[in-house]
Amino acid sequence: MANGRGQWGSRLGFILAAAGSAVGLGNIWSFPYRTGENGGGLFVIVYLLCVALIGLPVMMAEIFIGRTAQNSPVGAYRKLAGPRSPWLGLGWLSVVAAFIILSFYSVIAGWCLHYTWLSVTTTFSGQTPDELGAAFGSLVDNGGLSSFWHAIFMVLTIGIVVAGVHKGIEACSKVLMPALFICMLVLLVYAVVKGNFGEGLKFVFAPDFEKFEWSSVLAAMGQAFFSLSLGMGALITYGSYLKQDDDLVSTSITVSALDTSVALLAAIILFPILFAAGQSPAQGPGLVFATLPIAFSEMPGGAVFAPIFFLLLTFAALTSSISLLEVATAYFIDERGWSRTKATLATGGAILVLGIPSAISGGSALFGDGMKALTDWIYTGDGKSWFDTLVDLTFNIMLPLGGLGIAMFVSWRVTNAAREEGFKVGSRLGQLYWGWVMLLRYVVPVAVLTVLLNALGFFAMFSGNGEG
Ligand code: TRP
Repeated sequence: MANGRGQWGSRLGFILAAAGSAVGLGNIWSFPYRTGENGGGLFVIVYLLCVALIGLPVMMAEIFIGRTAQNSPVGAYRKLAGPRSPWLGLGWLSVVAAFIILSFYSVIAGWCLHYTWLSVTTTFSGQTPDELGAAFGSLVDNGGLSSFWHAIFMVLTIGIVVAGVHKGIEACSKVLMPALFICMLVLLVYAVVKGNFGEGLKFVFAPDFEKFEWSSVLAAMGQAFFSLSLGMGALITYGSYLKQDDDLVSTSITVSALDTSVALLAAIILFPILFAAGQSPAQGPGLVFATLPIAFSEMPGGAVFAPIFFLLLTFAALTSSISLLEVATAYFIDERGWSRTKATLATGGAILVLGIPSAISGGSALFGDGMKALTDWIYTGDGKSWFDTLVDLTFNIMLPLGGLGIAMFVSWRVTNAAREEGFKVGSRLGQLYWGWVMLLRYVVPVAVLTVLLNALGFFAMFSGNGEG
């Protein structure tokens, strides 16, 4: 506690906390369904390239900023760029993004809690596929139930963040991350033994060029930012609790590798189970909640393995949501001088309230049709719900914009000497320095601008079908 802000207890503690932030619903809920929607193998290859060439350098840049400034995003940019610098905008973007992302993230995490509960109390096996599919629809439609689980999940998140960096976030990651790996290994064995493993592997790894579309590249890149927790200062904040000479390079490589392994593992667990039960891979966001329970209901051992799966999903979501809440909390601690307790309760409480429109935007059970009409009216310029709008806004715009800004800040604005020293300190991989700078300076901006232009509809002008 050199400066009273809190600090990681060990390098391993930081790695587990950062990997805990990265490994989340992005890996287990969204990566498999995006892989399914985009035809499998080729999407996976493009995703891996995005992680290596864009995600990893940006991750190093974020941790570099936090560790150098020893401050959360707004204060970090102020310290490195000066009090009135426009770069401070990137810090504000982080705080705003933390509120927005966590507000819908916690709703999905709430569904995970609900399914953990369901899988223990009802076992899926007595129900028909139609009933199980409809059960998810009625959860999404039931704004009261969704809000209830969202609130429970937020309370859990607040409880951990209140306890602090070392005693809360790190301690919890040290328990939950190993538990998560054990659950994954158990499920992997189940998928190998009982699933259609050959077909699953083929789907995930064999490229099918016919299915290749430009939009898949963009989906892969947005997915990489989200999955690695990049673009909104979560890793600036976590990096700020490192010591100045902690190794940045190998830590980032380890965290990215862990995150990517979990995403791939999730896909090679899910698809064999789905194929064995005759389900199709391209089911969209309902893949894990609507389709997977059908597979569990039809397979031997499903009653035992379904709860393990949903528990895994909940653990993964929890270690990610604490990193999102920590960004918002750290701002009020560092910039406004609030106590951790006050900052966590205020930000967590605000996010709890902010999430309710997402929780009820699918339905109206609690608030009646008037409320549904209201949420529809506010959010659906183009027929999208509040929830979908927020997901797209963050995936397609805010995170890429943040990542672009971070890459440019570190590669152009920070002095050469500070950047080089910061990269090399404590690291045995210092020879990678120029590669890192080149990726940040040229590759990341070009690639990310492509995503942003797409999100703004630029490429739709060329493809003619409006899908870009
Ligand atoms: N990476 C997490 C996941 O894959 C989500 C997450 C946590 C996140 N912190 C973040 C996403 C910061 C973007 C930015 O589920």
